[in-house]
Amino acid sequence: MENAKAYPKFHFCPKSGWMNDPNGLMYLNGQYHMFFQYQPFSTEFGNMHWGHASTKDFIHWNHLPIALYPDTDGCIYSGSAAEIQTENGQNQIMAIYAHHGYDPEGTESIHIAFSLDKINFTPYEGNPVIFMPQYKYFRDPYLFQCPNETFWRLAVSTGNMILFLVSEDLIHWNETGRFIRKEDDIVGLWECPQLCRVKYEDTFKWVLIISHGMEAENGGSRTRYFIGSFNGYTFIDETPGSTSKWVDFGPDSYAGAFFRNTEDHPVFIAWMSNWAYAKNIPADGYRGVMSLPVSVSLTKENEFLLSFQPVSNLLKVFSEPQPLPDQQVAALPDAVCLEISAKNGSVAILKDIQGRELLCFGIDSDGYIFLNRSGESARTIPHFEGSFTSSIKNCSDHMCVFIDRNTFELFANGGHSKCSALFFSDSPLILWFQDMKIQKRDYTAISED
Ligand code: FRU
Repeated sequence: MENAKAYPKFHFCPKSGWMNDPNGLMYLNGQYHMFFQYQPFSTEFGNMHWGHASTKDFIHWNHLPIALYPDTDGCIYSGSAAEIQTENGQNQIMAIYAHHGYDPEGTESIHIAFSLDKINFTPYEGNPVIFMPQYKYFRDPYLFQCPNETFWRLAVSTGNMILFLVSEDLIHWNETGRFIRKEDDIVGLWECPQLCRVKYEDTFKWVLIISHGMEAENGGSRTRYFIGSFNGYTFIDETPGSTSKWVDFGPDSYAGAFFRNTEDHPVFIAWMSNWAYAKNIPADGYRGVMSLPVSVSLTKENEFLLSFQPVSNLLKVFSEPQPLPDQQVAALPDAVCLEISAKNGSVAILKDIQGRELLCFGIDSDGYIFLNRSGESARTIPHFEGSFTSSIKNCSDHMCVFIDRNTFELFANGGHSKCSALFFSDSPLILWFQDMKIQKRDYTAISED
């Protein structure tokens, strides 16, 4: 349904059906492969498969055949993948994922599947490879390796902790350790762990990312990160007790994951939605969109923080910046990038042509970036309304906003403050702004399809 009114121009969406988490991300032979949680037959969540797409540039995506199908006992939840060698030296992809049972308990176990052609997968006949019935939730296995090790490691979420396991043959797994947080308030179900070594000057830090369903700080689902080390058994948070650090201060960034083999400049992509209302947002033949892919880096002032910037080739598909007249109101195309220079107390309101407020954003008088989604259009979707403020004080006057049909992504504060939000309107967009200088860059790339 690419001509559906809201089909984004420079974001990945399935052509039809329901999509949530990115899965099994990897860079391989010049292509970025993305698998994803997918229900092909309906725009409602359920009966999950792994969809598959690939891209060379993160703008033009090839929609590939479904990679993994449910079996008679259950369906395919999130997981990861890696290229490995067969016994006779051929390259193949191994996917490792949670099998979610159709039984009343929704029993979860870890399964694997192999693909020689990187398109068609065959589940391993000895599945499950890990079954720990003591855990009701046992999902989202994330496969990783430590430097100079030949064996594989796995991080699996049990709902309120991350279990680490190790294996020499990817089939037999033994537990090595657990990551638990005693100091947590309620943050909701732990899901989708990701572990990545990120470079800082001439050393590396391990970053652990955990997504939290439903009860995170913003009242919905949200993704946080920890910075530390991996001691061979488990992840060690180097600042235990410090306030939680969130990947995105907006409402619509969840289950974010790293592309394997991009470790020099890790690339991360997330599902742009929130379990608080994902099932209620308008569907137009498809439901679900991925965020812009971002490059992740580490910075340190008082403490280590992650910085997120849109991948570098993204701006190549936008026109040169043209200043918006200082008239405080401008018509906007539905796919655009705005380079904004803003100071404390500045504000912008995105409206539709009927004058209905969609989103309001700016920098408050104390120097915190905010986003309000509380206009009339937000009130029609239960739990969609909200106000969101960055936890880090802003110390840069530059912000960059990408709007693509119904997606809004703001990057500010040198990449330390990122805000992702959906909005819904069928009408042309108007931007009203105050105390901001804005340069507009139109989306210029022509779709290959
Ligand atoms: C996260 C999640 C995962 C699960 C998948 C099911 O959004 O709940 O924990 O594997 O979605 O689609």
